Amino acid sequence: MANGAAASDGATVYQTNCSSCHQASGQGLAGTFPPLAGNPVVTGSAAPVIHIVKDGLTGQISVKGGTYTGQMPAWGQTLSNADIAAVLTYVRSAWGNAASAVTPAQVAATH
Ligand code: HEC
Repeated sequence: MANGAAASDGATVYQTNCSSCHQASGQGLAGTFPPLAGNPVVTGSAAPVIHIVKDGLTGQISVKGGTYTGQMPAWGQTLSNADIAAVLTYVRSAWGNAASAVTPAQVAATH
């Protein structure tokens, strides 16, 4: 899995690692897990969202009118750069989201 985005299927990475919290629909669970669908952080510039997925996130955030104070696990140790690129490309283009793809090189360059 070391190189080549083609080796990673973003939908599969999402189902395996993310959907238990953010749900297959990307809608999350109100008050517990924030939605990724229609979320401007997800569809904004790539670096912040890469950083969140690599390093996790804690503290209060506000998404689509809801408040979340949960803990997002860090994935940088468990998923390859290609897997993170694939899953981010997926969440940025699924459920009506329409943002640019993310490459493994972008993931590698973002801390
Ligand atoms: C164990 C539950 C859980 C899993 C699994 C999980 N997340 Fe999260 N995620 C959260 C929580 C909780 C937050 C909000 C953290 C906070 O309140 O600070 C979050 C936040 C996020 C955010 C930031 C949203 C924003 O508006 O700032 C993104 C992007 C994200 N997750 C993507 C993913 C991706 C991609 C995966 C799979 C690789 C994933 N998450 C797996 C629980 C999870």
